[in-house]
Amino acid sequence: MLLKGRKILVGISGGIAAYKVYDLVRTLVKEGASVRTVLTPSALDFVSPLVLATLTGSKPFYRWDEESPLAHVELAKWADAFLVAPATVNTISKLALGLADNPLTAAWSAFAGPKLVAPAANTVMLQNPAVRNHLETLRRWGVEVIPPDRGLLACGDEGEGKLADVDLIRDHLVRALSPKPLKGKKVLVTLGATREYLDPVRFISNGSSGKMGLALAKAVFYLGGEPLVVAADAKVSVPERFLVRRVETAGEMLEACLELFDGVDAVLMNAAVSDYRFSKRFDKKLKKSQKRLTVELEPTPDVLAELGKRKKRQKLVGFAVESENLEENALKKLKKKNLDAIVVNPVSVMGSDRYEGTIIFADGRKKELKAPSKEEAAYEIVSTLLGS
Ligand code: CTP
Repeated sequence: MLLKGRKILVGISGGIAAYKVYDLVRTLVKEGASVRTVLTPSALDFVSPLVLATLTGSKPFYRWDEESPLAHVELAKWADAFLVAPATVNTISKLALGLADNPLTAAWSAFAGPKLVAPAANTVMLQNPAVRNHLETLRRWGVEVIPPDRGLLACGDEGEGKLADVDLIRDHLVRALSPKPLKGKKVLVTLGATREYLDPVRFISNGSSGKMGLALAKAVFYLGGEPLVVAADAKVSVPERFLVRRVETAGEMLEACLELFDGVDAVLMNAAVSDYRFSKRFDKKLKKSQKRLTVELEPTPDVLAELGKRKKRQKLVGFAVESENLEENALKKLKKKNLDAIVVNPVSVMGSDRYEGTIIFADGRKKELKAPSKEEAAYEIVSTLLGS
């Protein structure tokens, strides 16, 4: 619910991808945002003002009349953010030239807050040098250009040009409306559960879903930073744009983290790393030939402790789940691994959507956390720990 109470003006221009805008406005409204819409004349060929009015609870603006001579200025004053989706090449070009010849372009020129465009068009149209230039101009002026997706386009071609996914557009809106304390900062985020193999098909692991880790990576993005995700096995799907490495074992996790460590400003070590691995890993699948099988386990490398030994400017944050003596146990880990902070939560939080926990800082300060979702908890954790 990071968009709760935010006022979002959605500009719709006339391309076939406009049919997806119903889904987009519905998603934003569901998240508690107030949404109003403004249309170009040709958008009326693709979407219905009645449907938009029903979904947003607000009459779309698509034509000036005696009652609304200044509707473009009123909308611009009302909005916290202005998103054009889909942005056709015609509308992109008009925005970059400063034209104000229809309700959408007029409202855009009257708006001074965060602006976003989500282009959607045929690949060749988007690669046209004039359009590329116009997009570059918009970027230079601080407009966020949400990259279009690749895939099968309405014209039958395969390529880049599909309107970005609703979730991606929503994530860019959250970022546009957030402060940017992490601008220019790279943050390594590890997530998921490592696997330690006995043979090619059997392993020990744990139930970590990776949900909190993904929420942390997204929070880094929202707050203006660049998340570099090292993902072990996870139930959530990690967007390609965040993923830098997939790993399976604690050993691979250590290797990946050591490689990336010098280039990052902070590490959020959210992965649930196995504490033990099999002393012997069999090359072939074990047969059920023996009555009793005894295996020996040995400790895995402690990734965070290794990073703690090497840290220079980096902030190191650990995450612990505890059944008892939460703060006492967490503080011991913080000291032992040379961390800047540790976030500890009770076992009951696992699998639940609500979050509660405590941030413990190296200087002994504490901050209690309570949030209705992991996404909101992660946003608070990242802004508290890395936001200053
Ligand atoms: N961690 C790690 N490498 C390991 C084990 C843990 O980097 N081999 C990290 C985790 O990612 C987490 C932090 O250390 O950020 C605390 O993990 P936790 O499992 O709570 O602590 P352990 O040191 O493993 O202690 P224990 O399991 O005995 O509670």
